[in-house]
Amino acid sequence: MSDPKSGGEGATPTPANDVIVERPLAGAPIRDGIGEEDNEIPLWFNVGFYGLMVYGVAYILFYLFSGWSTEAQYAAEVAVAEERAAAVRATLPTENPFRGDDAAIAAGQEVFSTVCLACHLADGKGLVGPSLVDPYWKYGQDDESLYQTVAEGRPLGMPGWGAQLGSEKIWQVLAYMETLPRSDEPGVGSPEYDAAQAAAAAASDSGAATGTP
Ligand code: HEC
Repeated sequence: MSDPKSGGEGATPTPANDVIVERPLAGAPIRDGIGEEDNEIPLWFNVGFYGLMVYGVAYILFYLFSGWSTEAQYAAEVAVAEERAAAVRATLPTENPFRGDDAAIAAGQEVFSTVCLACHLADGKGLVGPSLVDPYWKYGQDDESLYQTVAEGRPLGMPGWGAQLGSEKIWQVLAYMETLPRSDEPGVGSPEYDAAQAAAAAASDSGAATGTP
């Protein structure tokens, strides 16, 4: 073969190589049928290349001198969200809208017996959680405090139910809670109850120590 691109005897370029080598670089050797080409840089590449440079410089100038910053943007978004939250808060009822509403109380009972019963017992007298029918309220008995207790939870083991129940069901379960028969006795969780428990424990301890029945 006397193909000038073969670069030596025995190297026979395939037809495919002939197709690829369109503009061989002048003077560059071709080995095994592979040669360097000298093609024009495509327009899209140059546009992207120089365009990015221009964009980069413009961005740096904008970032440094326009006064815009991600922090300011964040602060502005937080301010907008705060405003919206305040507007929503202003429309929230601060009194139980379901007080005395039989249908709502029935719905509340449903919630109470699926969610609250495990810790406060069906009669509300308390087990893991404190009594809900005694005169003692650690976190307040007014509607707003009760709502907050149930929606957000309390630190000593009361989970927050706001996300799971939503405000309507919380008001309903509170409306039901009010209908539970009240008890004058200091119930589970009240200081008197705790003091009585401690006294009883102490008495049985000393009883065991002295051997008296
Ligand atoms: C996992 C157990 C558990 C469940 C379930 C639970 N509670 Fe409680 N709850 C507690 C505990 C524990 C406390 C005491 C928290 C504290 O003292 O910080 C409490 C406190 C409360 C209080 C405050 C009592 C006071 O004296 O101020 C109310 C009201 C209450 N729960 C209502 C509910 C209602 C309504 C539900 C159902 C939606 C519910 N709880 C479900 C454990 C529970």
